[in-house]
Amino acid sequence: MIKVGIITISDKGSRGERKDLSAEEIKKLIPKLPGQVVSYTIIPDEEAVIVKTIISYADKKRLDLIVTSGGTGLSPRDVTPQATSKVIEYEIPGMAEAMRGESLKKTSFGMLSRGLVGIRGNSLIINLPGSPRAVRENFSTLIPVIPHALDKLRGDPSECGSA
Ligand code: MTE
Repeated sequence: MIKVGIITISDKGSRGERKDLSAEEIKKLIPKLPGQVVSYTIIPDEEAVIVKTIISYADKKRLDLIVTSGGTGLSPRDVTPQATSKVIEYEIPGMAEAMRGESLKKTSFGMLSRGLVGIRGNSLIINLPGSPRAVRENFSTLIPVIPHALDKLRGDPSECGSA
């Protein structure tokens, strides 16, 4: 079972001014991994808070998968990718490219998300855009690949070629 942490990044949400429908969308998709949500939090669009929360989820809680939503666009307060780039050891560009590629089939605005996917320790970190629809569309693209990505991260030596 994949241990999942969800971090919603939203100024309004963290003040209780908006229901967190994005996290609801992520939670609905977790059984498809299959995974289990063991941690959830909602925090403001503050770079230092995002950095601290991701580090805690990866290093202390040792979660397999950390999914953030929100703050990936161009608004002055959008800093999720900047914060994520400070804590990951390396990026997995193909997973972020796949999200944007699939998004563009649905909306041209898909190119405005700067979300990253990367690794810190044994944790896979995924930045999703903030709207419930964008969460659904972006996360669905990655779900079939996540278990294999985590197996490889943990040193699974098996051959990758699919029959
Ligand atoms: N991707 C998909 N698949 N569907 C969407 O509706 N919305 C876009 C984009 N990615 C969208 C999407 C929009 S309008 C923006 S501004 C960016 O994600 C950034 O969103 P964020 O700032 O909420 O993270």
